[in-house]
Amino acid sequence: MTSPGPSLGTPLSPHATRVLLLGSGELGKEVAIELQRLGAEVVAVDRYADAPAMQVAHRAHVVDMLDPAALRAVIDAERPDVVVPEIEAIATAVLADVEADGVRVVPTARATRLTMDREGIRRLAAEELGLPTSPYRFVDTLDDLRAAVAAVGMPCVVKPVMSSSGKGQSVIRDADDVAASWEYAQTGGRATATGDAGVRVIVEGFVDFDYEITLLTVRSAAGTTFCPPIGHVQEDGDYRESWQPQPMSDAALAAAQAVAARVTDALGGWGVFGVELFVVGDQVLFSEVSPRPHDTGLVTLVSQDLSQFALHARAVLGLPVPEPTRIGGADQQAAASCAVLAEGTGIPVFDGVGAALGVPTAQVRLFGKPRVEGGRRRVAVTLARGADVEEARARARESAAALAVRLA
Ligand SMILES: Nc1ncnc2c1ncn2[C@@H]1O[C@H](COP(=O)(O)OP(=O)(O)O)[C@@H](O)[C@H]1O
Ligand SMILES: [Mg+2]
Repeated sequence: MTSPGPSLGTPLSPHATRVLLLGSGELGKEVAIELQRLGAEVVAVDRYADAPAMQVAHRAHVVDMLDPAALRAVIDAERPDVVVPEIEAIATAVLADVEADGVRVVPTARATRLTMDREGIRRLAAEELGLPTSPYRFVDTLDDLRAAVAAVGMPCVVKPVMSSSGKGQSVIRDADDVAASWEYAQTGGRATATGDAGVRVIVEGFVDFDYEITLLTVRSAAGTTFCPPIGHVQEDGDYRESWQPQPMSDAALAAAQAVAARVTDALGGWGVFGVELFVVGDQVLFSEVSPRPHDTGLVTLVSQDLSQFALHARAVLGLPVPEPTRIGGADQQAAASCAVLAEGTGIPVFDGVGAALGVPTAQVRLFGKPRVEGGRRRVAVTLARGADVEEARARARESAAALAVRLA
């Protein structure tokens, strides 16, 4: 018999099951909706007001989550049962303290610390677990970068250890690129340099992969389950399109699941992990892992009966998670997502939503981001199913092309 699992309370009562979301972007918004469906009391936190998840939460707080005292204060005030980080930029030492006090940190405080920068997780995967990765070095100065480039060979990829969405990331193809690549990494990441050393960067050998995947891996009270592999394309280090299932050989899929199981078991805890892998033939290289739902996993909103957000909500509440079931008949064997970006400054206004929804099977998610403040920002996603990956991708792209974003 299945175990009864935990009791869940009633929101806004003394018996609430309270969940504190640290980070309130579009992924957190979907997690908040799924938690609400299970009757959790959802408190959303981010560094700016009216963030997407705040709009669907019971309460919200505007807090600098890198400030340990401010983070501690909001946790003490809210007394959550579960803390669910949605971003990497968090004072993770505070999470270790609250975990020691008996609060569930998703997936674990240690996992949030190890994955908050590229060094912790890369050393765990490659050096402790012995998983295959690209060759790499960590360096703090331009001179050391030159030596590291010589050691791993060109082309190679340079990334600040604390960065996401491709920020500060560049490819070195030629010795002449090294200085510019260093400069770009110094200004693009989250950290600022202290003392004589620069911002720490990782130099990785460029992997000429056949394709890359996100393997959504769920650890729950029921054990570990996998979603079908998600293929994706990245531009400027940021995802543009994703699809599911990515066709793979049985050997490559088995290798991918083995790598994902090893790394997620080492991180522990309950929740969804987005394990990013490069595939070359039947060989699989570990790239990185998010201990939370993944942007490329937005496709699961239309591909599975339980999206990655629903799976995450169940897992973090301590409920057992089954393998999700694919949505769609014989003419809808695949699904895809296409990111919609806005560039500039202002409040997003969407034209052509009707046309975007007129594409067969298409759905949209307009994130409700209050503003775009310079640069390119993802403000919506289109989703579609199709007979195969090509048709699903074509539909998601067609829907995205019909959606016109203005900044008012
Ligand atoms: N060593 C590499 N070789 C080839 N492509 C890479 C390498 N590292 C990163 N990339 C490409 O850049 C994308 C973003 O890099 P990633 O390390 O995942 O950074 P982020 O944390 O910003 O997502 C990857 O999905 C992949 O397409
Ligand atoms: Mg990535």
